[in-house]
Amino acid sequence: MLNISLVQFTPEFGNPMYNLQQIAALLKGIETDIIVLPELCTTGYSFLSKEEALGASEGPDGQKVTFFKQLAKEHKAIVVAGVAEKSGGKTYNSALIALPGGETKVYRKTHLFFREKQCFEEGDSGFFIVQHPLKDCKVGVMICNDWRYPEAARSLALLGADLIACPSNLVSDVWRIGMPARALENKVFVAVANRCGTEVRQLEDGNTQSLTFTGGSVLYNFAGEVIEQASKTEHRVITLQIDPLLTRDKSFNDFNDLLKDRRPGFYLG
Ligand code: ACM
Repeated sequence: MLNISLVQFTPEFGNPMYNLQQIAALLKGIETDIIVLPELCTTGYSFLSKEEALGASEGPDGQKVTFFKQLAKEHKAIVVAGVAEKSGGKTYNSALIALPGGETKVYRKTHLFFREKQCFEEGDSGFFIVQHPLKDCKVGVMICNDWRYPEAARSLALLGADLIACPSNLVSDVWRIGMPARALENKVFVAVANRCGTEVRQLEDGNTQSLTFTGGSVLYNFAGEVIEQASKTEHRVITLQIDPLLTRDKSFNDFNDLLKDRRPGFYLG
């Protein structure tokens, strides 16, 4: 058994120190083993160019990375946080995975959404899982729009994930249909940490872009059922106890097993 915490709040665009303060305040005193934060939770979302995203991004020694490493150490938890990652003069829409012992890993978003294609490089980390060093739990990570590609969650399940952590900046509600399917079809827990609030940016062509993020951060059990869900606007941490071991037997009756029954020879792509 372990505790997982999903953090929902409104990052302010271009105000990373305020955003870190909000995260620290929300998590104060919470005892947990895994912390999942939204996509791009330190910078805000609505970048308009590669130059702008690069200016807000940072590498492995940056202040925000140091903050999340410290958070992981303090809570003895895995922290999964959406960040703008600088590497080799390029910027990735990434999830930093900070482990309690100080080690970090980075997942780079595979399926970029909308204007992200103008601002970030396509993710090249591929999918992988992380073993919790203090608990029997294997964590896989995908980011937001990755949910639309069942191959992402399936890859993580095939690698042995018990839980998929999904830092998100979701701007519609259609994910509420698809995301639970990712849990059900793979028999894994799915933790969606979404943000709330609205970001308004002036575009070069004189138009205005306004994006409202739909909150509703949620933990699905391995049957795709909601265990607990935040409202669309509240700033809060959802902390729940789960048993990751319950995901490991992939059978769903005496004859069928979700992964063993696959027929890859008939699948395209
Ligand atoms: C999204 O991928 N931020 C919708």
